[in-house]
Amino acid sequence: MDKGSVNELLQAHAHVWNYIFNFINSMSLKCAVELGIPDIIHNHGKPMTVTELVAALPTLNPTKACNMYRLMRILVHSGFFAQQKLSGGAQEDGYVLTSASRFLLKDDPLSVTPFLKALLDPVLTKPWDCLGMWFQNNDFTPFDTAHGKTLWDYGGHDPKLANCFNEAMASDARLITSILIDKCKGSFEGLNSLVDVGGGTGTLGKAIADAFPNLECTVFDLPYVVAGLQDSKNLKYVGGDMFEDVPVADAVLLKSILHDWNDDECLKILKRCKEAISNQDKRVMIKKKVIIIDMVLMENDKENDESRKSIETQLFFDMLMMVLVTGRERREEEWSELFSAAGFSDYKITPILGLRSLIEVYP
Ligand SMILES: C[S@@+](CC[C@H](N)C(=O)[O-])C[C@H]1O[C@@H](n2cnc3c(N)ncnc32)[C@H](O)[C@@H]1O
Repeated sequence: MDKGSVNELLQAHAHVWNYIFNFINSMSLKCAVELGIPDIIHNHGKPMTVTELVAALPTLNPTKACNMYRLMRILVHSGFFAQQKLSGGAQEDGYVLTSASRFLLKDDPLSVTPFLKALLDPVLTKPWDCLGMWFQNNDFTPFDTAHGKTLWDYGGHDPKLANCFNEAMASDARLITSILIDKCKGSFEGLNSLVDVGGGTGTLGKAIADAFPNLECTVFDLPYVVAGLQDSKNLKYVGGDMFEDVPVADAVLLKSILHDWNDDECLKILKRCKEAISNQDKRVMIKKKVIIIDMVLMENDKENDESRKSIETQLFFDMLMMVLVTGRERREEEWSELFSAAGFSDYKITPILGLRSLIEVYP
């Protein structure tokens, strides 16, 4: 082989190795969060040396302390921490947080740690082991192959998983809420009532109810999800099945719902939502709508690193929807076909939520 082809071969080999070991990035991050490293560095208030970090980890077995710099080295490489020179010409560098590690702080309002813990919990990672098997068997999802029931049934029987999952969704809702109420106020103005279908434990519903005190909000989810949750002034919880019936309102909100389901299931949900907004008092002259927060798959653009990464993340989510549930992420044309098939006449996409969009759909 000439030198060029040897280089090409080795590069291809390195590419394969890199992908074989991609899970190490996720697991190293999970370990750092489990040990509370982001909070420890944050609370330290200045660059923290590895010696200081080791001393601050109360549960660390001292015989493992010499390995801490190795965990930190890969997390610095992946951008979750950075190293800074210490003042006074000290020999050791200190670790500091980066803009990504803010999301790993336990008490930050935008923390993704509940999401990380749920999605990397063995109950949700085991189905990935069954993906190959699932392609060859009759199960609905790899989750069913791994656990013998759907994700939603599993949650109904395992309060620990249900809590972990609901916390994960609530943490995601907090991020979306802060942007939605600031940037998409107009989408809610003028409405008298709104039902958040599959609204979980109501993080988004509560925030909308607080931001629009004249809006009657209903959080609608499976009975075991909303059991025991307290209604407040303009917010109430209703348990039920969105495939059977959706409470009537001027608008229906569906955040991270339709991507959980296949096209036939989405059609059923959308038709129930259309009935819910059509059955609302017709004398009220408000433009009724369904408000969807979900991904619109981006077009492939390999020129730009950032858009490549965004597309990859969207494709990760698409795979996740295949592995955990019966859903998928959709391109704009696929959304459009779904809306027409469900009897809606028009829609508007506002790509204001990063990887996700606000989609307003009109009867
Ligand atoms: C991916 S979570 C989204 C939660 C919330 N909308 C959010 O984004 O934070 C999907 C939600 O749909 C609910 N769900 C699943 N099947 C349902 C059904 N048949 N009727 C009502 N809600 C359902 C789940 O309990 C869960 O809360």
